[in-house]
Amino acid sequence: MKLYADTADLNDLETLAAWGVLSGVTTNPTLLNKVEGEEEDIYRKVCGLVDGPVSAEVVAEARGEMVSEGRRLAAIHPNIVIKLPMGAESLAATNTLASEGIRVNMTLCFTAPQAILSASAGAAFVSPFLGRFDDIGQSGLTALKEIVEAFAMADYDTEVLAASIRHPIHVVEAARMGADIATIPPKVFYQMLQHPLTAAGIETFTADSQARGARGSTEVSR
Ligand code: G3P
Repeated sequence: MKLYADTADLNDLETLAAWGVLSGVTTNPTLLNKVEGEEEDIYRKVCGLVDGPVSAEVVAEARGEMVSEGRRLAAIHPNIVIKLPMGAESLAATNTLASEGIRVNMTLCFTAPQAILSASAGAAFVSPFLGRFDDIGQSGLTALKEIVEAFAMADYDTEVLAASIRHPIHVVEAARMGADIATIPPKVFYQMLQHPLTAAGIETFTADSQARGARGSTEVSR
């Protein structure tokens, strides 16, 4: 399973890119709204930090305008993928954009039927949301499992991009289910990294290494 960063924050992207774990980036209007600067400049900088697909979401609501906005965004950088919110207008726009070689990430997907329509329309990625199910007391992982199983049997080329990740368990479960990609907020990346036993173990090894070094310098000075 590939890991994408779900953010437009350039500082977080620089930090995470240095870990060598990122294969792409996803953004959306809410994430973009948190970053100062011109939209095109932000996307260009994001593409400069991470060498992989970068999802840029259109805000137009009609198919024609979606296609125009998608073409404009795709022209910013070859790695730009056009994010469209699931719906009839987006399916129609996906058909056109995909026929022009512009990749689409169908987002705000919550069910297997929505995902199947997205794949059939030619989307390169479909983004089932996990956390927003959890937010209303339901299980996003159940929908994700259905989608991954259906896509495996239907042999779709569309990649399943697990989104709306709230904690490390979502990442683990998405991997166990066979999702192609998980797009992860920086906060969850940092949670994945840390464990109190790791910290305690490093502290002990450091102390023992220093103790040995101190003993060695005493022996040498005799
Ligand atoms: O990329 C989609 C993702 O950002 C949505 O996550 O936390 O707003 O549900 P969230």
